[in-house]
Amino acid sequence: MQVSIPFHIMKLFIISWVLLLMVGIRETRAQSPEWSRQAQWIVPGFAEDTLLRPSPIYRKIFTLHKPVQSAVLYISAHGVFEAFMGNRKIGEEYFAPGWTSYDTRLQYRQYDIKPYLQSGKNDLQVIVGEGWYRGAFGGLMQKNNYGSDPGIIAMADIRFTDGSSIRLYTDSSWQSTTGPVLHADIYGGMLYNANIQPGNWQPVTVATFSKDILVPTVGDGVKKQERIPAVRVFTAPNGDQLVDFGQNLAGWVSFRVKGKKNDTIRISHAEVLDKNGNFYTGNLREATATDTYILKGNSVESFEPMFTWHGFRYIKVEGCKPLKENFTAIALYTAMQPTGSFSCSDPGINQLQQNISWSLKGNFLDIPTDCPQRSERLGWTGDAQVFFRTAAFNFNVRDFYAKWLQDLRADQRPNGSVPTIIPWIYRNLQPPRKNGVAGWSDAATIVPWQMYQVYGDTAILTQQYASMKAWVDHIQGASTDGLWTVNGYGDWLAPGDSTSLPFIDQCFWAYSTQLLINTAAILGHQDDVQHYTSMLQQVKSSFLQHYMKPEGYTMPNTQTSYVLALELQMLPDSIKPLAAKRLDELVKANNNHLATGFLGTPWLLHALSNNGYVHTAYDLLKQDTWPSWLYPVKMGATTIWEKWNAILPDSNVQATSYNHYAYGAVGDWLYRVVGGIDAAASAYKKINIHPIPGGGITWVKCSYISPYGKIVSNWQLEGEHIKMQVEIPNGATATIYVPGKGAMEVKAGKYNLEGNISPQENKLSKR
Ligand code: BGC
Repeated sequence: MQVSIPFHIMKLFIISWVLLLMVGIRETRAQSPEWSRQAQWIVPGFAEDTLLRPSPIYRKIFTLHKPVQSAVLYISAHGVFEAFMGNRKIGEEYFAPGWTSYDTRLQYRQYDIKPYLQSGKNDLQVIVGEGWYRGAFGGLMQKNNYGSDPGIIAMADIRFTDGSSIRLYTDSSWQSTTGPVLHADIYGGMLYNANIQPGNWQPVTVATFSKDILVPTVGDGVKKQERIPAVRVFTAPNGDQLVDFGQNLAGWVSFRVKGKKNDTIRISHAEVLDKNGNFYTGNLREATATDTYILKGNSVESFEPMFTWHGFRYIKVEGCKPLKENFTAIALYTAMQPTGSFSCSDPGINQLQQNISWSLKGNFLDIPTDCPQRSERLGWTGDAQVFFRTAAFNFNVRDFYAKWLQDLRADQRPNGSVPTIIPWIYRNLQPPRKNGVAGWSDAATIVPWQMYQVYGDTAILTQQYASMKAWVDHIQGASTDGLWTVNGYGDWLAPGDSTSLPFIDQCFWAYSTQLLINTAAILGHQDDVQHYTSMLQQVKSSFLQHYMKPEGYTMPNTQTSYVLALELQMLPDSIKPLAAKRLDELVKANNNHLATGFLGTPWLLHALSNNGYVHTAYDLLKQDTWPSWLYPVKMGATTIWEKWNAILPDSNVQATSYNHYAYGAVGDWLYRVVGGIDAAASAYKKINIHPIPGGGITWVKCSYISPYGKIVSNWQLEGEHIKMQVEIPNGATATIYVPGKGAMEVKAGKYNLEGNISPQENKLSKR
């Protein structure tokens, strides 16, 4: 049957639709920031050398005659830049303007440049490295991921004490050239010739790139952090000259050397030595990770690379005889306030905590990366979500993840699907790369919700709500007959039997839906609460129908299947004890070893301790043969490995990452269960102090700086007698569980408490 719509109704419909569209467009159209309106994008005025692409340098010379009251430089670039006034680097940041979803969001930096200005001639220079924008980057080493130009845009707003001011904009009056940085890219390293000084300055070319995408920078950016002196210089069995810094990290090496003009020093980087004690780079894939310096000669010269970073503990030095005192490793990562500390009587667990912290530092370089050494270093969403809680215990990661979530939103596909990597570097590849998969794309719901829990910030929920909803709607759209089956990464790298993908999919569908419901309730979207609550019921009932045997066992008989079913609330209460018992049996049948991958591991110990199997959880924590958390510690690891057995018991090394924080997600259990600090309300306004001793640990010192202030939970055991020292910050309240005595409600203050641990109590569940 055909329905004809009267013309006047049709006209009305079209007009209101156009109006709506205009309002919508006005709301979403970004505006260029005020400072950029008269500034112009500029690119080098010379044809670039296509082979090496030396880092271009831009320059503006200007003269000041009056005392300066204030001076601010606003600046952004296609690539990564460092700005200098004369020879002084402006600010302490590296890799500015950071990596964002450059098609729609490009951050600009704002620097106070008053301290760098002088009366008379000033020489502002900006050097631009390839960076994420146009360097060979992404697993496929593709170049020009976002564009091929190394453009910059800037404005210096200089105000004088007499009330007058000038504004210097990037425009055709700027000059360009190249200098000693003959090449620099993230994976490859830097090639630097100290004999080349910038000269032959040429006028720049003005370009017309978008200014509407310029957004202020979130956070303080990447800075130099720890400086680690070399601990050992030695000759490897194959004759290589190596330096050991004793710690695996992400950053670069600063060194001093004296040699002749044109002497060439090469520094290559590696995380481990092979079985024979030789330098091992087999895990770096396409990353050559080598910095090369050509000396001026005759006097002592100091070097540090630019526009690159490496994941390493060892370096190989060619071209000079290395002296220990001349080499220092510098860790580079995003500036964040430390928030937590955890230590205990067990040295192995303390090393594990150190390793977690170092893997965080090694992978929080502007975005949360999977690894810092090989030709990858991408913002894998699965890794970023499993590690969030642990990260937040150790550092204030609010700005860091808030920035990344904006890119997640920006890169979310029009159909609501969420890429597995943010920023979505593979967005233009054909055939399209995997996106919209369980456990990875669910970062869209998990990270905002956990941020709300930790920081109590509803703004983040408001900001992400549409994205969270679009993701859950996408899953529903992709499901068939109440089941979501998508070809994802599953319980990535789990040793042993794998957990079926559709099972995992359904669990994460439910979890994301639950978090969306929680969020809708907080934001007051009652209709959504109802809608998604009924969706959740269907998701769970389809789960039970398809994945449960009548006797209550989940279908895939793996640790991860029970962990997910329990912790993601897939089971009716009546079945939980059976599932927990089965999990416990599986662990014991595996000789007290875990068998979980990226998705099961973060919840494994919680699934046990929440359901009456604290002893088993501690057995797993203390296990030191493969696969376990302490096996790498026993093998000398100083960071968390990507694979449980990256170094095999016979010392053979595997081509894998030695700095991958995902399995470090156990850090959350250390703080929440061993230390016993947990949030009972968002932002830790209400706190649970509920340590559960075990594993032969006789003392713990645990603290965390919450939005309300410092929380402390220390305890010592003498036999069965426990002494606790607890601190609750102003504005918060807490329930303290004193073993043998029960719960007590307290306000802010310091408490010294004593109790007794009975052997049975240790077996009790946390719930
Ligand atoms: C990365 C992981 C990531 C995975 C996806 C790997 O190459 O290093 O950490 O989550 O791919 O399964």
